[in-house]
Amino acid sequence: MSQSRLSFVIFVLRQTALNGVLALGLTLSGSLAVMAGGDIQAGLEASKTCAACHGADGNSGVPMFPSIAGQGAGYIAEQLHAFRDGNRVNVLMSPQAKALTDTQITDLAAYFAAQKRVVKTASTDDSIPGAHLWKFGGHANTIAACAACHGAQGQGNQPAGFPALRGLTSQYVLESLMAYRNNERKTEHADIMVSIASKLSDDDMHDLAKHVATFP
Ligand code: HEC
Ligand code: HEC
Repeated sequence: MSQSRLSFVIFVLRQTALNGVLALGLTLSGSLAVMAGGDIQAGLEASKTCAACHGADGNSGVPMFPSIAGQGAGYIAEQLHAFRDGNRVNVLMSPQAKALTDTQITDLAAYFAAQKRVVKTASTDDSIPGAHLWKFGGHANTIAACAACHGAQGQGNQPAGFPALRGLTSQYVLESLMAYRNNERKTEHADIMVSIASKLSDDDMHDLAKHVATFP
């Protein structure tokens, strides 16, 4: 795993008396902070091969392919490096990243980050336990509220480096949580999710995945 440690700066840690939501202001250190701005135009050129699966503007129409439009550039670049270097593996995606140069990765990240995320089909099939875990965390406070980092409606927190989850399908979210639990996603900033996912049961994961898919 990477040398650099995940470090958190806690700007705000307050318990709202009204609803008990734990509002955390967290940020990540490391590569995300030093992401130089890529060339959006060059990214558009390089993105032609991505369109078949992720959609031309990064809004995917197929449940197994995650939307990447509007995702933080630092997060996109980090995932592309991970696929290229074998720290995150997927039979469909890994070959796509193999030949990318560092510059292409930065440009692609800039292009997709600049696109607007569109939620095509928000699910109506919600889960009450999933919504509760999302908002308040759980298991005797051993699991932080997902909303603290990913936002109440999964909008993410670009400056802090927390990915947007709205618009992702329950299938993809479930697979991602399982991959973290199995320690299969080894990016520089995966530790936090590996630790969280290790405390989630299969039922928790299904419930959370259902809830995320309802975000408009
Ligand atoms: C053949 C289909 C396919 C093509 C073409 C493809 N991808 Fe992917 N991509 C996937 C799949 C499937 C995943 C989910 C992998 C997983 O579950 O770990 C993915 C995941 C990603 C992710 C991670 C998303 C996240 O939320 O963590 C990024 C970023 C990404 N792709 C970017 C690209 C870029 C940029 C290109 C073009 C250079 C591209 N992809 C081409 C199938 C594809
Ligand atoms: C302290 C902040 C924090 C909390 C709390 C948190 N996450 Fe995350 N989450 C992250 C970060 C950082 C990443 C990106 C890690 C990486 O590089 O793979 C991430 C990634 C993810 C992904 C993968 C997204 C993608 O596009 O592939 C999913 C799904 C996810 N989180 C779900 C959850 C759920 C569900 C919870 C609550 C049980 C939660 N997270 C709580 C910080 C957090």
